[in-house]
Amino acid sequence: MPIYILGIESSCDDTSAAVLDGTTMLSNVTANQQVHANYGGVVPELASRAHQQNIIPVIHEAIGRAGIRKEDLDSVAFTRGPGLLGSLLVGTSFAKSFALGLGIPLVEVDHMQAHILAHFIRTPQSQGQVPEFPFLCLTVSGGHTQIVRIDGHFDMEVIGRTIDDAAGEAFDKAAKIMGLPYPGGPLVDKLGKEGNPKAFGFAKPNIPGLDYSFSGLKTSFLYFLRDRLKEDAEFIEKNKADLCASIQDAIIGTLMDKLLKAVNETGIRQVAVAGGVSANSALRNAFLEQQQKGAFRAFIPEFQFTTDNAAMIAVAGYFKYLKKEFADLSASPYSRVENRI
Ligand code: KG4
Ligand code: ZN
Repeated sequence: MPIYILGIESSCDDTSAAVLDGTTMLSNVTANQQVHANYGGVVPELASRAHQQNIIPVIHEAIGRAGIRKEDLDSVAFTRGPGLLGSLLVGTSFAKSFALGLGIPLVEVDHMQAHILAHFIRTPQSQGQVPEFPFLCLTVSGGHTQIVRIDGHFDMEVIGRTIDDAAGEAFDKAAKIMGLPYPGGPLVDKLGKEGNPKAFGFAKPNIPGLDYSFSGLKTSFLYFLRDRLKEDAEFIEKNKADLCASIQDAIIGTLMDKLLKAVNETGIRQVAVAGGVSANSALRNAFLEQQQKGAFRAFIPEFQFTTDNAAMIAVAGYFKYLKKEFADLSASPYSRVENRI
């Protein structure tokens, strides 16, 4: 008996819908929003409006590509938070009315848990490789940087977190300082491929325990460039590849140092990476390198599951559906975990 779950994701600037049969992905459709590129960041009001325009076509497409009819769906899973409230409201409202209209249960999903649970999605490429409990996950996105210990699908403990900027934010801010458009992370990755990661050194943060800090790195990058630009106005243009490779090396080095510390402290040797920054080629290579050295077994997501997508919402929804953990129509979005009501 198939169990068809429709996932809906609208927490930030991607409108996405996916259909899974259990953990097997049948479709995953995402509409990116280009309207923010010139503003240096996501403009919440524009994001919300774009979600309203995109949501029906995206869902229609996802159901069509899955080769089913909407009446075949067993449940609708939606991102309840964290994220931008105006954006979340679009997905939440649509999910509620769609589930109500079809007379099927509604499931709410936490966006950060879903990034981690994306490792359980089965595709023709995944070959059934899923982490076993307990495992650690480095969750790195534009809004979060966490080391999470996972003992069950919904039994998760954050054992390390950033005390200021997220890793994705560090990439985006460094890119902005160099005059690159938003989101700068993928561009830093691309340009850095041609550069020397050891060309320039930046002070590494010294934070106790398993926590992270990236604001000092950003400031040191800013001051370094300010000084060099005084001597040579073309400094950024002339050294762009080396600058991208070097700042990337500093961010990835910081991420990996604490992660290895967490592996040693917990003794857990299965380690996943999730979230938008897990698309970064240097981070993916660092994971493979540690696996080759025998430090841990690495779980690296397929590219389509790194940045925001609805397949991860649907798989998290499927696990809740099995537990019959349904949401009711009064479930309202939350912007931050601590604002959850
Ligand atoms: O998970 P995500 O799509 O959205 C949030 O929940 O925040 O992550 C977006 C973040 C952005 O900061 C973006 O610059 C970063 O992920 N990112 C990258 C790469 N691809 C996306 N950062 C570095 N290298 C990449 N290849
Ligand atoms: Zn995300």
